[in-house]
Amino acid sequence: MKLSDFPRYPLTFGPSPVHHLRRLSDALGGAQVWAKREDVSSGLAFGGNKVRKLEYIVPDILESGADTLVSIGGYQSNHTRQVAAVAAHLGLKCRLVQEKWVPWEDPVNDKVGNILLTRMMDADARLDPHGFDIGIRDSWKAALREVEESGGTPYPIPAGASEHRLGGLGFANWAFEVAEQEKSLGVHFDTIIVCTVTGSTHAGMIAGFAALEDLTGIRRRVLGIDASATLDQTREQVERIARHTAELIELGRDLRDDEIQVLERWAGDLYGVPVESTMEAMAMGAQLEAMITDPVYEGKSLAGLIELVRTKDIPADSTVLYAHLGGQPALNAYHSLWPAT
Ligand SMILES: Cc1ncc(COP(=O)(O)O)c(C=O)c1O
Repeated sequence: MKLSDFPRYPLTFGPSPVHHLRRLSDALGGAQVWAKREDVSSGLAFGGNKVRKLEYIVPDILESGADTLVSIGGYQSNHTRQVAAVAAHLGLKCRLVQEKWVPWEDPVNDKVGNILLTRMMDADARLDPHGFDIGIRDSWKAALREVEESGGTPYPIPAGASEHRLGGLGFANWAFEVAEQEKSLGVHFDTIIVCTVTGSTHAGMIAGFAALEDLTGIRRRVLGIDASATLDQTREQVERIARHTAELIELGRDLRDDEIQVLERWAGDLYGVPVESTMEAMAMGAQLEAMITDPVYEGKSLAGLIELVRTKDIPADSTVLYAHLGGQPALNAYHSLWPAT
């Protein structure tokens, strides 16, 4: 099936905004940096990248006759907040497993930010002591069984909606949206920077930009910046989902190795724990552009962009597009990063 033939249920305002980060570009003294903003693309509980993935999953949810969305993430999961938002929007119930993915000892870590919004939207969010793992979890399977045993009809949405058959389509379409915006803005992005953890955002982009390349002959670099700190697992997941999504949209060829690039230098040692480069990136984004990023995801991918532009690994004559995937609500659980002076 062609990408444009897959049903899409609108959850966003339309194409996400694209804008030039002039002061950040000037400060880095190399490539021109632009951003495409998934963080302001939807009215559903502050939106983010999962809303775009869910646009392609909602038709399947509605067809399934399910009454309860069942998903999983960390205490401060942006993903589960967006699943709760979509459930509220559709009038469905929502059961969430919130695992202790991050050893970040903040006394309000399980109370503010994403999980607060999730509770406000009346999702049944239950804390679980297990640590970080992007794979399919027993705790999630148990939640699915519990919903069934209590007479509900669950709809399974795995972590990040990534291990879902349709999970890559939202960001495959993002590539075509970028191409349209390039025409109207009169700009060409030769490099895309995207944060990657559960993988289907980056994987979808890989499939979409491959399809675009086959239509236009124009090659670009789509660089995933790992924020999982479990690189092998994320890289394997990105590769597998990219190949699956490419097949789903009938790319008609195998993906080349150079089309699948996950870079590892900015994750630090642990998922969810910022390092010096994360802090510098978050400060630069905020202080030069009032572009707010979080310490779990976007601060790490922005750190990757900053270093790659500074070192000219992204050449000075490049125009680079930073995919801002949302995630700011988690900042509330990290208030100690900017203490009062
Ligand atoms: C703000 C933010 N950025 C990046 C990501 C990574 O996206 P993915 O899980 O599709 O790799 C996520 C979710 O995991 C996220 O919430």
